Amino acid sequence: MSTTLPVSGAGFVPYAVEVGRGLLAGLGERVAPFARGRVVVISDETVAALHGPAVLTSLESAGLRARILTVPPGESSKSFAELERVIDRLLAYELDRKDIIIALGGGVVGDLAGLAAALYMRGIDFVQVPTTLLAQVDSSVGGKTAIDTPRGKNLVGAFHQPRLVVADIDVLATLPARQLRSGWAEVLKHGLICDAAFYDWLASAGAVGAGGDPAALERAVVRSVEIKSAIVGEDEREAGKRALLNLGHTFGHALEAELGFDETVLTHGEAVALGCAMAFRYSAALGLCSTATTERVVDGLAAAGLPTRLEAVGRAGAETMVRRMAGDKKAEGGRLTLILARGIGEAFVERDVDPARLTEFLRTEGAR
Ligand code: GLY
Repeated sequence: MSTTLPVSGAGFVPYAVEVGRGLLAGLGERVAPFARGRVVVISDETVAALHGPAVLTSLESAGLRARILTVPPGESSKSFAELERVIDRLLAYELDRKDIIIALGGGVVGDLAGLAAALYMRGIDFVQVPTTLLAQVDSSVGGKTAIDTPRGKNLVGAFHQPRLVVADIDVLATLPARQLRSGWAEVLKHGLICDAAFYDWLASAGAVGAGGDPAALERAVVRSVEIKSAIVGEDEREAGKRALLNLGHTFGHALEAELGFDETVLTHGEAVALGCAMAFRYSAALGLCSTATTERVVDGLAAAGLPTRLEAVGRAGAETMVRRMAGDKKAEGGRLTLILARGIGEAFVERDVDPARLTEFLRTEGAR
């Protein structure tokens, strides 16, 4: 049994996100309608070792000619150097515009392979096969692709929607516990943005879902994809509503930068969790929501083993954080933008945040 969710918007070809168990074994049949030529699976060395053989077997048994191209695991592969190497390989394979790329991996592989697909021969089709919870609920849906530069993360990229997304819940069983919890932060984020009933269920199911229960994970992925695809369908290019998906991210990115983007100290999902807690506490400090609401948020994050307090993760500077937040690529014309909330499920975009007030708030949070 699987669930097929449509993603459609004015500016792109509609596609489906299929969520379910045991989907990788039938990947070839799922991809075949989109493959008019050869298939190149782009993956990282870790994921390729775990799932590459099954994926290639499935593609070949559906009559597709397929090969695998691997990149080193980790964020450092989202670089110009790795993008150039990938594109050079695709050229060496003489891929043409009838051929198709499959991104098999987490957010790094999806972002890199998606950008290579956007650029190669001015754009070829690609399919997302996300293998982390974070990628299943967030980065594989919506067409954002990017690499990093020494000046910041995701600064070079393109909107390039996949033709299909296949999210197999069973592959999450191979994830380290910390990575699964980190993905759960992005799931909670969707409830916090616009679905209080979903949030309440997530808060009660946190220990089970973030602990790897497949039924809870499937329900969490399906509802997250529904929420994300509705938002992307209305606002693909982030002119308005899509910015809501950045709840917790502006605080979170600043924290990640303060802590040197060291995933052993703070994963992206943990930064998002802490960022969500901060966004709600800041909303409460501004009188927008109650402290009872912030307590519910903290309880939901803590139930999944996610951090909610700065002192639990490290030291950060209030002024440098605010400078980083103002320099975030989501800031417009130097105006500091944050996603704040009037309650759980009632997030909104605040485009004129007062930097002095925010600095003062961060000091109350324990920043220097
Ligand atoms: N990850 C946020 C977005 O896709 O817009």
